[in-house]
Amino acid sequence: MVYGAPRTVRDHVLYVERRLKAAHVAFGHGTEDARDEAAWLVSGALKIAPNGLAAKLTEIPGRKAVARIRSLLAARIRTRQPLAYLLGEAWFMGRRYLVDPRVIVPRSLIGEFLPEDGASPLADIDIRSILDLCTGSAAIAIAAARAFPGAQVDAVDISQDALKVAARNVRLHGLGDRVRLIASDLYSGLEGRRYDLILSNPPYVSTAEMASLPQEYRKEPALALEAGTDGLDLVLPILRQAPEHLTDDGRLVLEVGASREALENRFPDRPFLWLASADDECVGYWHREDLRDFASDE
Ligand SMILES: C[S@@+](CC[C@H](N)C(=O)[O-])C[C@H]1O[C@@H](n2cnc3c(N)ncnc32)[C@H](O)[C@@H]1O
Repeated sequence: MVYGAPRTVRDHVLYVERRLKAAHVAFGHGTEDARDEAAWLVSGALKIAPNGLAAKLTEIPGRKAVARIRSLLAARIRTRQPLAYLLGEAWFMGRRYLVDPRVIVPRSLIGEFLPEDGASPLADIDIRSILDLCTGSAAIAIAAARAFPGAQVDAVDISQDALKVAARNVRLHGLGDRVRLIASDLYSGLEGRRYDLILSNPPYVSTAEMASLPQEYRKEPALALEAGTDGLDLVLPILRQAPEHLTDDGRLVLEVGASREALENRFPDRPFLWLASADDECVGYWHREDLRDFASDE
């Protein structure tokens, strides 16, 4: 328990944690609880990566750093902006990305498929070409380029605003020769192109769920989240048209979130392979040949 004014970095983390809890801010934009968010806020104020904080816990931050902690905390509570927007950065698979309200804060479970140590669950296929459909900040495209160093990656989004942020990240990560940004409504601009792997974290929030989301989610672009009455407005065309854009042995990894239930209800006789799931989030995995029936479901 901290009494009096916080002094050490650890004190500041505890202080921020208690204030965030008392203010009932919502988490889910890069952190899942007040302790992790407090650690990220303090590391951001100290201008270090979150994984560098442990080494600084007993240090006394300078006056400017303390002022930054106070001001970030006040803004986080007052505006309900996700911390990533206040810091202008987010962390995905251990790497830094530039973010602002033109893109959602990257947090997709698809990251679990893209470790940089070669241990991807997709390592059994020879992946030379990857499509990141609905790329936003390009975090998934960039993580995929790192996880599969022999692959070229196309990163598609309908939002020119999002693609501007994506371009900054492709530059930041020095991947301009391997990650190509494309403005397109889903596959419409990709005629004739096929990929060994399609990754997609599309909008999948139903209208009803949208109305119940905490304020933090309303600071993100609605275009990135909203997906109709059952949340399947984009998921279904992505599934249906995937075979036309996959190579013979190609795979689709698609995050469907809470629209999983609507999808399973729509195809009650079909076994789904859910590879990653946490609370409401869910990622499905398909071989090209298993996608044929979706195409005939129009
Ligand atoms: C949930 S966000 C995912 C962003 C990023 N892939 C991530 O995981 O952080 C969905 C993205 O899909 C884009 N989008 C929405 N409708 C689209 C469409 N019809 N075609 C292509 N992209 C679309 C949005 O602009 C947004 O950037």
